[in-house]
Amino acid sequence: MRRLYGRRYLDLLGSIYIYNEHRGYTAIDRVLHAVRARWPDDHMLIARIEKHRADERKHYLMFRRWFERRGIMPLAVDRTCGHIDRFVRIMFGSTIDELDPLEIVARDDLFERMCRVIALTEKRGHRQVEILLRHPRVRADATLMKIFRIIEQDEPSHWAPYEDWLATHGRRQASWWERAIDRFIHGELLFLKLPILFLAPRLSRRIVWPDEEEQAEQPTACSPSMANA
Ligand SMILES: [Fe+2]
Ligand SMILES: [Fe+2]
Repeated sequence: MRRLYGRRYLDLLGSIYIYNEHRGYTAIDRVLHAVRARWPDDHMLIARIEKHRADERKHYLMFRRWFERRGIMPLAVDRTCGHIDRFVRIMFGSTIDELDPLEIVARDDLFERMCRVIALTEKRGHRQVEILLRHPRVRADATLMKIFRIIEQDEPSHWAPYEDWLATHGRRQASWWERAIDRFIHGELLFLKLPILFLAPRLSRRIVWPDEEEQAEQPTACSPSMANA
């Protein structure tokens, strides 16, 4: 029973991570495209965002290999488990896919808001990884420990370009209420969504990998119970 519980926990954890890593690099792709269009000569900013994108893709592939080695597909969690999805929804009133990055980079007030959202999300990710590295279930999985150690090292370079942009352009860093929203989103995932998903018997597995779906533009398997989770 305890082993079953542990396997389910890791399964869910890996599934939420693979969703978020994939969401991360695909969303950064769109930001990158817009930043290149607005500031084509800011090679430093572009290079730092490219590095961020490459890291998130690397994280995604590490989780994919972890699942492949276990011989199972990730659980079909969707954007209800995406920290950045929720944050963008609250801060911009629309989904990531509905946002037009070109419109955001064209307006400094929107771009600075986006920088704060990304920086807070990355810092949240870093804190979460530090917690997970102490978790007994995670510690029992050597590969997962290796993955989380790499993420822990990468993370500080992920929020830096956005915080630096805010500083060099005389814009404010995240305020108390933006931090409160970040905490709320994390709490909601941890104490509401995670327990619901843990107990959801109908939660199906993905039938294709997120990056393959990206290429083929095929729908994923998604349990109906997830739609309202
Ligand atoms: Fe990541
Ligand atoms: Fe990151």
